[in-house]
Amino acid sequence: DVGPDAGRLGGEIIFQGDPSSIEELTETPGAAISYTARYLSGRLTIPVPGTRRRWRDSIVIKGAREHNLKDVDVTFPLGVMTVVTGVSGSGKSTLVRDVLYRALNRKLGNPGDAPSYHRELSGDIARLSAVEFVDQNPIGKSTRSNPATYLKAFDEIRKLFASTQGAKQMGFTASDFSFNSDGGRCEACKGEGMITIEMQFMADITVPCEECHGKRYQKEILEIEYRGKNIYDILEMTINQAIEFFGETDGTQEKRIIKRLKPLQDVGLGYIKIGQNSSSLSGGENQRVKLASFFADESKQPTMYIFDEPTTGLHFNDIATLMKSFDRLISMGHTVLIIEHNMDVIKCADHVIDMGPEGGDAGGSLVIAGTPEEVASCPASYTGKYLKEKLSAGSDI
Ligand SMILES: Nc1ncnc2c1ncn2[C@@H]1O[C@H](COP(=O)(O)OP(=O)(O)O)[C@@H](O)[C@H]1O
Ligand SMILES: [Mg+2]
Ligand SMILES: [Zn+2]
Repeated sequence: DVGPDAGRLGGEIIFQGDPSSIEELTETPGAAISYTARYLSGRLTIPVPGTRRRWRDSIVIKGAREHNLKDVDVTFPLGVMTVVTGVSGSGKSTLVRDVLYRALNRKLGNPGDAPSYHRELSGDIARLSAVEFVDQNPIGKSTRSNPATYLKAFDEIRKLFASTQGAKQMGFTASDFSFNSDGGRCEACKGEGMITIEMQFMADITVPCEECHGKRYQKEILEIEYRGKNIYDILEMTINQAIEFFGETDGTQEKRIIKRLKPLQDVGLGYIKIGQNSSSLSGGENQRVKLASFFADESKQPTMYIFDEPTTGLHFNDIATLMKSFDRLISMGHTVLIIEHNMDVIKCADHVIDMGPEGGDAGGSLVIAGTPEEVASCPASYTGKYLKEKLSAGSDI
């Protein structure tokens, strides 16, 4: 078990040995914290919600017949969390991505792929202003983008540096503190801090830039300090550290920075460095940066957010954080629609749409739709069988 936490707070071996003895860790006073042990022993759990949210409005798809879909009619509720379940190959992605998402996206006036075969899209479409398909693909295309630039937190940090006495004396503006445009950045590496050398018969290699020694900026820029830190020192801080550092004063510009960084902390990414390159993020991390950007946009009109297997690569403890993020999107007036196998997610749904019963040709039908309790009492549903155990195990919380 590697941990205890992520990023800077991880990297230690917490436990190695027989799985049956890991649970003892939670009982040993002073032992390192192991989330794995705590979830295994049941001391930490993802609770079953006490109540299911009620819904009235919905989007309806009728006569979907792409791939293995057997002319199905499905109702997708609005304003709640719906989980689409079913064995691999049962038709979940075809129904949700190829039919529902594409049809809705076109209907809302956006370009994009033509929807797969269905007879009708109807329901309370006017209640939605947008639909977003959230995948695990990398954020931003530039090799210089990072979570802080994606959430526009770095713009606010650059403004703060431009407002310092030192910057004013030298005539530096906010754009001189950018590593994305000419001005203050190191021109040898174009602000990347690294040089990529193309090798003819081998993989490219990267080496630190000799000009700036990996610090990404020209010497004059690095001499400008805000409370003892230069712009490179800030890029080296984790999100958590930066929130702490900028929170030590109560300036308005510092508050703006914190407001932009906070959503990243809320989705559990506080351990990432401000300057960490987007291309180094894992799929799950990319997905959560996107989630964070949805929170940052408070004026966003009601949106349907669709996730295809968002828990891929996540630990129980990450899943708990993810579930809180979904709840928050719903409390902001949005709709969350998830394709998922993970029972801890399914048991928290307000509504479950179970596809199947099998994969391939023997699938493509709607087995049952309803609350997790209703699905659990459906004998024809594989999901129901596992859900039954899960609900009886965790319902006392
Ligand atoms: N592009 C395609 N062409 C033909 N068949 C496909 C294509 N994509 C998926 N299928 C088939 O359709 C069925 C449903 O697939 P999919 O919707 O991806 O299932 P799920 O998301 O539930 O795992 C499977 O039998 C799959 O092999
Ligand atoms: Mg799929
Ligand atoms: Zn350089």
